[in-house]
Amino acid sequence: MKEELAWTKFLRNLLIMVVGSRNRPQLRRPTWIIVLISIVCVFLVAAYIYPPQTPKHSACYFFSSQGCGTTRVEVPKAVARELTDRELESRVVINEILNVDPAKTRIPKVAFLFLTPGSLPFEKLWHMFFKGHEGKFSVYLHASREKPVHVSPYFVGREIHSEPVGWGKFSMVEAERRLLANALLDPDNQHFVLLSDSCIPVRKFDFMYNYLLLTNVSFVDCYVDAGPHGNGRYIERMLPEVEMKDFRKGSQWFSMKRQHAIIVMADSLYFTKFKHHCRPNMEGGKNCYADEHYLPTFFSMRDPGGIANWSVTYVDWSERKWHPRSFKARDISHQLIRKIASIDQSPHYTSDIKRSVVITPCILNNLKRPCYLFARKFFPETQDKLIQIFSNSTLF
Ligand SMILES: *[C@@H]1O[C@H](CO)[C@@H](O)[C@H](O)[C@H]1NC(C)=O
Ligand SMILES: *[C@@H]1O[C@H](CO)[C@@H](O)[C@H](O)[C@H]1NC(C)=O
Ligand SMILES: *[C@@H]1O[C@H](CO)[C@@H](O)[C@H](O)[C@H]1NC(C)=O
Repeated sequence: MKEELAWTKFLRNLLIMVVGSRNRPQLRRPTWIIVLISIVCVFLVAAYIYPPQTPKHSACYFFSSQGCGTTRVEVPKAVARELTDRELESRVVINEILNVDPAKTRIPKVAFLFLTPGSLPFEKLWHMFFKGHEGKFSVYLHASREKPVHVSPYFVGREIHSEPVGWGKFSMVEAERRLLANALLDPDNQHFVLLSDSCIPVRKFDFMYNYLLLTNVSFVDCYVDAGPHGNGRYIERMLPEVEMKDFRKGSQWFSMKRQHAIIVMADSLYFTKFKHHCRPNMEGGKNCYADEHYLPTFFSMRDPGGIANWSVTYVDWSERKWHPRSFKARDISHQLIRKIASIDQSPHYTSDIKRSVVITPCILNNLKRPCYLFARKFFPETQDKLIQIFSNSTLF
């Protein structure tokens, strides 16, 4: 009862104070205390609503000891983590490689790294693509299941030692590294393209050659997918070196410059993290596919400005199924190839609730460019039609 009375009085007095009545009565001591507490509360609420990071907001005038002028010192949002020994060592090696301009060779070559179970179904098409450009390319083939039979001289004797590769398994990443290492033995190889047995070219050789060698970036696909097929695959065992905010997704089919192929060879820290903690059937039933996460995460952490963030190999995920669209012979037309070759923005389909599509315009040296040089996935039956289109076009 007493408290109720005091509150009523306090409210009345506050009203009088605010309205400014001339007959303001003397307030008693307990009421003053309540008024004081209330004022403090109002300030605290104000400080909460307007945190002192934006100097223009009122609260910073009251709470910032340094004032709100231009002299105010910004406090970093998160205190930087101390690097682990292995992280520091890794940074030193990688930065050293990135800071040294790679040796230029007289005629740089593009290395084609084919990751395939056996014989290449599009060998004839690739042969046409390569013909007349001897000395400007080299071919390496990792046939993981059976020994391929070749006809084209560009492919004969180009197999490297291979190991079995499991879909979505870490052995996929190991095969990619094996291909890179073999191709790095030739100092003339300045750019490295990873392709599968279902990939085809959608441009002529010269266009591809200039496109890859006249840009100083690697075409490593890289984006954030906040959904279950992206960040949902991350596990905290990757800490402290790989945080969830660093985790990236991207197509496995990369192309990279020599410097980047060398930092992939030099990396054991992130490689080991992904080898142990990004696997199918992990604890909690999670499935992580290292071939879609290791290189995108690695490059976005160590050299984000050095990658284009899209892959030069087109694929159609617009059906949003477990596997991308596969093109059959009846789908193949001049228009289809022309359409793929002229796309100049690259879509990224995410698995978040909104199933949003992130569109990245393909910009190189400040110019919008066509995104794709290659495309997948094509059934072997499409080859004859593709050869016909290829032999009768100036575009590709
Ligand atoms: C690539 O070249 C452009 C201009 O030639 C330059 O601005 C950019 O910093 C270079 N990027 C890298 C990763 O070297
Ligand atoms: C790729 O994305 C990163 C940010 O994730 C950005 O820093 C970089 O500039 C992008 N690369 C290009 C070539 O725009
Ligand atoms: C060759 O190209 C021309 C026009 O580009 C087209 O009219 C013709 O049908 C093509 N021939 C074949 C065999 O594809």
